Formats: sequence, C-alpha cells, structure tokens
Amino acid sequence: MKARLLVSIGVFLLTAGVYAPDLALGADWSPAPLLPANPLAGSRLFAEKGCLRCHSIHGTGGVLGPDLGQQILNRPLLDIAGAMWNHSPGMEHVFQERRTTRPKFEPAEMANLLAFLYYLGSLDPVGDPEVGARLFSEKRCDVCHSLGGKGGRIGAALDKYSQYASPIYLTAALWNRGQAMAHTMNRMGVPRTVMQGNDISNLMAYIRSVGGGVERVYIQPGNPQQGEKVFREKRCAECHPVKDHGKGVGPDLRAILKGSLMQIAGIMWNHGPKMWAKMAERGIAVPVLSNADTADLISYLYFLQFLDKPGNVERGRVVYREKRCARCHELHGVVGTSGPDLAKIEKLQTPLEVVTEMWNHASTMEQRMLEESVEWPVLKGGEMADLIAYLLSIRNGPSKPVAAKGSEVKRK
Ligand code: HEC
Ligand code: HEC
Ligand code: HEC
Ligand code: HEC
Repeated sequence: MKARLLVSIGVFLLTAGVYAPDLALGADWSPAPLLPANPLAGSRLFAEKGCLRCHSIHGTGGVLGPDLGQQILNRPLLDIAGAMWNHSPGMEHVFQERRTTRPKFEPAEMANLLAFLYYLGSLDPVGDPEVGARLFSEKRCDVCHSLGGKGGRIGAALDKYSQYASPIYLTAALWNRGQAMAHTMNRMGVPRTVMQGNDISNLMAYIRSVGGGVERVYIQPGNPQQGEKVFREKRCAECHPVKDHGKGVGPDLRAILKGSLMQIAGIMWNHGPKMWAKMAERGIAVPVLSNADTADLISYLYFLQFLDKPGNVERGRVVYREKRCARCHELHGVVGTSGPDLAKIEKLQTPLEVVTEMWNHASTMEQRMLEESVEWPVLKGGEMADLIAYLLSIRNGPSKPVAAKGSEVKRK
C-alpha cells in the first residue's frame, strides 16, 4: 500500500503533462530572498537530464545515487545548489564509470530544477495507517465522521478523501470547513483537537488505507511564487508581516514557521480559532481556499523558513580565498593558474548563472584540481550564497560599492 502510493506520487511528478515555466528566479539578483520557481517543470527536467537514472524519489528511479525523497534536501535553495556542487566529484565518478557526460543546464532550467529539489525536501514522510487509526478515534473524528461505514453521521463520510494521492484536499477541507466544524464541536462538547508532528500525514494514511483501490486524483506540487500571490490576495498579508508588507496583529511567519507541508497545515488548523476571531474583529471574511490555492499557499509558507539569507560580500571574499578559487581564477589582473577571470564572463551576472556555470564546468574544474592538487572545495550552509554575493560584487569593479546587487546588470 505504502509502496504503491509512493510510486504513484513519483510517477506523477515525473510524467505530469503540465508545463508552465515561471522563471522569476532567473531574472536578477536582489538582496531580497529568492523564491523558488516551478517545481513541476523541474520534475520533468529531473527525468530529461538523466538525474532519475541514478537517483530515485521515494524509491522510484535509479539506485546509483542517494534517494532524494528522504528529506535530505530540506534546506535553503542555494544550499541545495551547494549540495550539488559538493557532491559533483562523487557524481562525476559514476558518470565516468557509466560513460555518460554530465548534463548541462541553462540558468532558467537550473531555476526549475532547484525548485523541484527544494520541493522534495518539503514532502512529509508517508504516514502510518495504524497510527492514523488510533488518532482518528483519539481526536474524536469518529464521533462525527464515518470511514468504511463505521463512525458518526454528523459530518460527511470521509472515504472520498482516500482517492486523493495528495493530502492537500484534506488540508483545504480542514481549513474551509474548520470554522463550521468548530461550532459543531463546541455545541456537542467535543474538544477541538490540536494537530502535532505528523498527525495529518498519519490520518491521511489511515483514510487511504480504508478507502483503498479507488482511482487516484492528483494535485500538482504547489508553486511558491503563486502562493505568495494567494497570501496577498487572501489578505493573510494584512495581519502577517511577511516581506515587510503589512505589519500586523499576527506573527511574522518567517520567524516561527517550521516543518514540512503537512506540519504547517497542522499549525494553521491549531491557530484557526484565534485567527477567525481576529478576522471577525477586523472585518475580514475567512478566506475560502481552493485546492490549488492551498497547495500554493502551503508551499509558500514552507519555503519561508528556508529563504536564503542574502549572501554577504565580505564573508564571500573569505570563502573565495579559503576555498582556493583565487589560486586558479584570474581576478583584477592578478593572474591565476588556469581559470578564467570570473569578473569578465558575460554569463555570470545572476546567482543562477553562477550556480549553473559552476555545475556545467565542474568536470573540467575537478580535472584541474586533481592536476594541481587542490582539494575539492566543499561549501557549508550559507557559503554558496556568500560566494555568489562576492562574485557578483567584483563585477562592479573595486571602485564601486561592493553591494550584492545585480540589478544594474539586469538581463532581458
Ligand atoms: C551517473 C549517476 C548520477 C547522475 C546522472 C546524477 N547523480 Fe546526483 N549523485 C550521484 C551520486 C553517486 C551521488 C553521491 C555522491 C557523493 O556521495 O559525493 C549524488 C549526489 C547528489 C546530490 C547530493 C545529495 C546529498 O546527499 O546531499 C544531489 C543534490 C544530486 N546528486 C542531484 C543530482 C541532480 C539534480 C542530477 C541531474 C542533473 C543528478 N544528481 C544526476 C549520482 C548521480
Ligand atoms: C463534533 C463533530 C466533529 C468532529 C469531532 C470532527 N468533525 Fe469534521 N466536520 C464536522 C462537520 C459538522 C462538518 C461539516 C462542516 C460544514 O458544514 O462545512 C465537518 C467537515 C469535515 C470535513 C469536510 C468534509 C466534506 O464535506 O468534504 C473534513 C475533511 C473533516 N470534517 C475532517 C475531520 C477530521 C479529520 C476530524 C478529526 C480530527 C474531524 N473532522 C472532527 C464535524 C466534526
Ligand atoms: C485578521 C488577522 C489575520 C489574518 C487575515 C490571518 N491571520 Fe494568521 N494569525 C493571526 C493571529 C492573531 C495569529 C496568532 C493566533 C494564535 O496565537 O493562536 C495567527 C497565526 C497564524 C499561523 C500560526 C503561526 C504560529 O504561531 O506558528 C499561521 C501559519 C497563519 N496564521 C497563517 C495565515 C494564513 C495562511 C492566512 C491567510 C489565509 C492568515 N494567517 C490570515 C491573524 C491573522
Ligand atoms: C584548480 C583550478 C581551479 C579552482 C581551484 C577553481 N576553479 Fe573554477 N574553473 C577552473 C577552470 C580551468 C575553469 C574553466 C573550465 C572549463 O572551461 O570548462 C573554471 C570555470 C569556472 C566557472 C565557469 C566560468 C564560465 O566560463 O562560465 C566558474 C563560475 C568557476 N570556475 C567558479 C569557481 C569557484 C567559485 C571556485 C572556488 C570554489 C573555483 N572556480 C575554483 C579552474 C579552477
């Protein structure tokens, strides 16, 4: 059962026919945090560029590299780029063994690929149906709802939720019907449950296990850039000061939100009653969220916790020196041993271009490093962002202020 579901999620991700590139990340570098681009487009690239031949996602795919569905990628976007860089020699080794070449990327493709890898890090571990069954009665869902013909008749039977491969439908319903449910609970003296940890995943696993064998209905991975719009349009931003618009009666979600997609859904459930009260006070109707809205919104909220901190030019300068990039690359007329002057390359004007070119040229660089006995530079958390800030600042020349801005050199 478990295996089948995972396979279907994997297969969905890799075959979904929707393709809508959304490349805001590629456009320019501003010190503002980057929001990932389009995970769905990235999932296609993941297959097309051959990543899937070595990597699986939740057990679907190749076995030569690690399974990337195991929440090893829940970190900031540029740190994921850093992980790809760090593991380049390890991958290269397998490329050579298999006599394949490293796939090359355009920056726009890299944006979508990274968004997809980022999305993988947000997925919940598969729930456990047995734990879910226990929760269903502990949380008193069974007082009002039936499943597999057993349970209360106050609310709808929940069997239909088993046809959905994604817990987003349940999440949307918990939000949209939440207030009405709370009234009924109140009236019947049933305490309103608090969702913790993987409760929602586990409940979903139980619901699926009871309604097994039904056709799966999928929903696309949420698009965080779209989610940011939903966040504004549904007026969440009026109370929650995210990205410095609105300074509100609600907390700054960047600072406090932690966890996977379903954990965040649980947090929204838990804080529902106080939010509804505040909304009533301020004359804001409780927003109704479509399934797509919910997917986008929740993925946006997930991404808030990992938004890359803007890179720091000074720290980047240190990284550049300590990782010995300076040994090979010419800079400001100081000649290096073998690498091109990074301040002069036309293609290195945005963070994504730097990340992309580092990936595209990694094989040759590794070769040179071996020849010159330079150890492969491993980048720790935040160091890729710092390095990029520095590399972009040197383009401005030493006389200009070294701000991490590429807005002067906007493309397109
Ligand atoms: C020929 C096989 C192969 C291909 C193709 C391949 N990889 Fe890898 N990948 C590996 C191996 C092996 C490792 C582990 C390397 C190591 O341990 O240093 C790895 C590691 C990684 C990691 C680091 C995971 C971690 O533990 O942090 C990421 C991210 C990654 N690969 C992404 C990709 C992407 C994206 C693609 C497609 C562009 C890709 N890989 C293509 C074999 C491959
Ligand atoms: C005290 C009764 C009660 C309890 C306990 C309760 N619910 Fe509900 N639930 C309702 C009612 C009433 C509705 C319909 C609300 C409306 O009119 O919009 C509802 C609606 C729903 C819906 C939307 C159903 C649809 O029509 O598609 C879902 C999903 C749901 N509940 C899940 C749960 C889960 C999961 C639990 C346990 C954590 C739970 N409920 C506990 C009374 C309850
Ligand atoms: C009228 C003001 C208001 C609006 C509009 C509003 N919220 Fe809130 N929100 C609050 C308040 C107040 C809290 C703290 C509630 C509490 O302490 O339980 C909160 C808490 C939260 C939390 C939990 C934060 C934590 O402590 O972990 C999340 C997540 C959240 N809101 C998301 C949203 C989203 C998404 C929307 C839009 C659909 C939204 N809010 C709309 C006022 C609002
Ligand atoms: C051992 C020498 C060496 C070291 C150390 C080295 N590089 Fe390189 N780098 C090269 C060479 C040689 C090339 C050109 C490779 C090619 O032509 O494919 C290159 C290419 C690049 C490119 C792509 C340039 C282009 O044409 O778009 C970038 C970006 C880059 N290096 C960044 C770095 C960074 C950042 C570091 C430190 C973390 C670093 N390099 C360390 C030798 C090195």
